[in-house]
Amino acid sequence: MQNKSVYFILLLVVAASGTYASPLFHTYRSSSNDTIAAELEKMKNFTTLLSLAKIANLTSTFENASLAVTLFAPTDSGISSTLKAVNISASAIEKNSTLVKMILEYHVVPEPLKTSKFSALNSYKTLEGSNITVTKNSTGIFVNGVPIIKKNVKADKSIIQVIDGLLIPPGIVV
Ligand SMILES: *[C@@H]1O[C@H](CO)[C@@H](O)[C@H](O)[C@H]1NC(C)=O
Ligand SMILES: *[C@@H]1O[C@H](CO)[C@@H](O)[C@H](O)[C@H]1NC(C)=O
Ligand SMILES: *[C@@H]1O[C@H](CO)[C@@H](O)[C@H](O)[C@H]1NC(C)=O
Ligand SMILES: *[C@@H]1O[C@H](CO)[C@@H](O)[C@H](O)[C@H]1NC(C)=O
Ligand SMILES: *[C@@H]1O[C@H](CO)[C@@H](O)[C@H](O)[C@H]1NC(C)=O
Ligand SMILES: *[C@@H]1O[C@H](CO)[C@@H](O)[C@H](O)[C@H]1NC(C)=O
Ligand SMILES: *[C@@H]1O[C@H](CO)[C@@H](O)[C@H](O)[C@H]1NC(C)=O
Ligand SMILES: *[C@@H]1O[C@H](CO)[C@@H](O)[C@H](O)[C@H]1NC(C)=O
Repeated sequence: MQNKSVYFILLLVVAASGTYASPLFHTYRSSSNDTIAAELEKMKNFTTLLSLAKIANLTSTFENASLAVTLFAPTDSGISSTLKAVNISASAIEKNSTLVKMILEYHVVPEPLKTSKFSALNSYKTLEGSNITVTKNSTGIFVNGVPIIKKNVKADKSIIQVIDGLLIPPGIVV
């Protein structure tokens, strides 16, 4: 497993500011099978994630209906609860869009994964390049130990798995 202490060296503090909280995505469709961006908007709890996507220039990716990926999507409250374990300035993260992009890409696996695919222990390579570990036990399903709290949200060809915290790629230091 990755060094847990590394995870806590570095976290996103954009949540607290709300600076980027303006609506970024304007394409709403009535279907329940919409783009990742639109599904995140509909679920309400992803203001921070959508803001980070803008910083990382991933907005058009999240609006791409041809995309077929899994997004492990951290909620606003998940990100802020992770932030409580952290002691780093917001600006240090916000101003480094490369860093934000790496972190977000660590939440994306380039194939759609329903939770029915998961066994007790699974490893998936993310777009960032490092693997995440998905585990399943009687308590639930976890990504690097962070629980999936809403399963299998369809977003066009992609799937959103909502998680209750932020995943930090190994080896990242600010
Ligand atoms: C999602 O947002 C709603 C409305 O803002 C809130 O009541 C709910 O607690 C949030 N859920 C999570 C998991 O953050
Ligand atoms: C959308 O995603 C598909 C599949 O990954 C890709 O081939 C296409 O280039 C993307 N379109 C844009 C505008 O990025
Ligand atoms: C948090 O960071 C500040 C400023 O760098 C430092 O003074 C303080 O000791 C740190 N606190 C913890 C708990 O690491
Ligand atoms: C995002 O776009 C801005 C403006 O074009 C650019 O300065 C920045 O380097 C880009 N960041 C990434 C991660 O692509
Ligand atoms: C931004 O973050 C990346 C990844 O951690 C790092 O390699 C790079 O040096 C950082 N850039 C600045 C200007 O701090
Ligand atoms: C990363 O996950 C892939 C499967 O997606 C697996 O083939 C590979 O062995 C894993 N790598 C490590 C270092 O666990
Ligand atoms: C299931 O895994 C999670 C995450 O690793 C852990 O916190 C929890 O204690 C485990 N539950 C059981 C019943 O082993
Ligand atoms: C959702 O829409 C996409 C096209 O945007 C389609 O490929 C996919 O099969 C649809 N999924 C479901 C479950 O309807």
